[in-house]
Amino acid sequence: MDLRIENKVAVVLAASKGLGRATAEALSAEGARVIIGSRNLQELEKTAQEISLKTGNQVIAIPVDVTDAAQVENFVLKTASAFGRIDILVNNAGGPPFGAVESFTETDWQAAFELNLLSTVRLTRLVLPHLKKNGSGRIINIVGTSVKSVLEGSVLSTSIRMGVIGFSKLLADEVGPDQITVNNVCPGLFLTDRVRGSAIKKELAAGMTEEQAEAEKAKNIPMRRIGQPEELAAMITFLASEKASYITGTTIQVDGGVTRSIF
Ligand SMILES: NC(=O)c1ccc[n+]([C@@H]2O[C@H](COP(=O)([O-])OP(=O)(O)OC[C@H]3O[C@@H](n4cnc5c(N)ncnc54)[C@H](OP(=O)(O)O)[C@@H]3O)[C@@H](O)[C@H]2O)c1
Repeated sequence: MDLRIENKVAVVLAASKGLGRATAEALSAEGARVIIGSRNLQELEKTAQEISLKTGNQVIAIPVDVTDAAQVENFVLKTASAFGRIDILVNNAGGPPFGAVESFTETDWQAAFELNLLSTVRLTRLVLPHLKKNGSGRIINIVGTSVKSVLEGSVLSTSIRMGVIGFSKLLADEVGPDQITVNNVCPGLFLTDRVRGSAIKKELAAGMTEEQAEAEKAKNIPMRRIGQPEELAAMITFLASEKASYITGTTIQVDGGVTRSIF
């Protein structure tokens, strides 16, 4: 299938590693011109070079902290002028910490709000005029399966990401006439630095090897394995493509079947 992404300009946030990086690489492999953003410039530039070397397509690194309104504004200005247009926006960021409801302070809630909701709103609001100018566009938000079924300890993530779901559903309604689609993807468990530092932390601390810890976690996943970031990136790339022109307002899990809700 020709996804017809070639030469589209894609902006992928939080893309120096993990799910964002895999997404940037998949889009670049399909011929998109990709701009990646995250905080650490050195890591970001290294990633851009590595992807570009692999795919043969240009990847530009522009540093940004998505929790900083002024930096986000500057980032969108720079991205828009880098290739003269923006066609695809992939909203992504680091994730909030896990813990019990009573363990979090007002500051924790504020930080999660800035990182995982306001960042999406800010980037989307600033990129929208560029998509509208083209007469079409794609917005894809990376959220988590906790918006579909209960995930222990994920109160910050779940509460805040429900806001992203509401925001994107309303936005899909408003920008449909402009042929702009807005969708959310829910990663299940993918082996990235975040997961090494949280989801399998308990198992590693208990003395298991990474392999044993992964196997333990995989027991609850119908496909009996942790996902590869490329498997999430494939869904995002499809949603970003012209082939997904009639899919909007959805929240799709890519999780090896781990979400136990029926809908
Ligand atoms: N991996 C999973 O299984 C999984 C499952 C469900 C949901 N998620 C969600 O998916 C997202 C990505 O997770 P991941 O596993 O790919 O994480 P990761 O491997 O830890 O990568 C996080 C990326 O985000 C960037 N970042 C962090 N804070 C940022 C900020 N304030 N501004 C800009 N960039 C920032 C980091 O670069 P810098 O530090 O240089 O900024 C890095 O590139 C998170 O929101 C996570 O909660 C992941």
